[in-house]
Amino acid sequence: MERWDGGDAYELFMGRWSHEVATVFVGELAPSDGLKWLDVGCGTGALLEVITTRANPSSISGVDPSPEFLATAADRLGGLADLHVADGEHLPFDDNSFDVVVSGLALNFMPDPEAAVKDWRRVTGPGGVVSAYVWDYADGMQFLRSFWDAAIALDPAAEPLDEARRFPVCQPDALGGIFEANGLANVTTSSVEVPTVFSDFDDYWSPFLLGQGPAPSYTSALSESARDALQHRLREVLEDEGQSQISLSARAWTVTGHLR
Ligand SMILES: C[S@@+](CC[C@H](N)C(=O)[O-])C[C@H]1O[C@@H](n2cnc3c(N)ncnc32)[C@H](O)[C@@H]1O
Repeated sequence: MERWDGGDAYELFMGRWSHEVATVFVGELAPSDGLKWLDVGCGTGALLEVITTRANPSSISGVDPSPEFLATAADRLGGLADLHVADGEHLPFDDNSFDVVVSGLALNFMPDPEAAVKDWRRVTGPGGVVSAYVWDYADGMQFLRSFWDAAIALDPAAEPLDEARRFPVCQPDALGGIFEANGLANVTTSSVEVPTVFSDFDDYWSPFLLGQGPAPSYTSALSESARDALQHRLREVLEDEGQSQISLSARAWTVTGHLR
C-alpha cells in the first residue's frame, strides 16, 4: 500500500501538478465569494491554497489522515485553514456545516467512496455544492500511464497495482453514479487537462524514487536491477532524440452535484 508521509517529496512528485489542476477546477466551479469551504483529503494543501487565493472564502477547512501532509498544508496556508487529521468517510463536523465540499485526487483512496460522498453530503448545507476530481489513470494521466505500462511490460505481477485497475471509480459514469446514488441533484461530470512538462528525463524519473503514492511505493520496493530496467525502459519510451524536455499532459475527471 502507498505511503503519504512526506510533504516535500509529494510536492515534487504530484503536488506541482495537482496545484495546476486545482487552479482550473476552482475557476470552472466559479463559486461566489464568502462561502464556507471544506477540502476532503486535502493533503499538502494545493487545492486549499487555490481556494484561498481565487475564491475569496469566508472560511476554509481541510481533513486528511496524514499528519505529515497537514503540517505541510499548515505551513503553506500560514494558519488560514482549520485542519484536522481525519478520514474522508467520517468527517469531524456537524451536519450542514459547509457551503462547498470539494476533494482533489483523493476519493479513490478512500476505502468506500460511496460512504465518503454520503458523509460529504451530510456536512453540506441546503443549496450547497459537492464536487470532486480524480485522475484519469486509464488514459489521460499520461505520466502515470507511461509508468504503469512500462512497469507491467517488465513485471506482469505489477498489473493489479496499476491505479487504472485498482480504482474503477475513476471514470465519469462511476463518479456520476455515486453522486446520484447519494441524492445529489443536477449531477454533471467533466474533465480538466493540464500540461505536465518535465525539464528532462531526470525531472520525470527522480520523484518516483521518493516513495510517496502508489507508483513511487512500487518503485521503492523493486530490487536495484529491476529499478534500473524500469528506468531504462521509460527513458526509451519517453525521450525524444535531440530533445531533453518531456511534454505530457494530465487529465482529471470532475464531478459536481448540488443539495436542494
Ligand atoms: C494524491 S493525494 C491528493 C492530495 C491533495 N488533495 C492534492 O490534490 O494534492 C491523495 C490524498 O488522499 C489522502 N487519503 C488517503 N486515504 C484517505 C481517506 N481515507 N480519507 C481522506 N483522505 C485520504 C492521502 O493522505 C493524500 O493526502
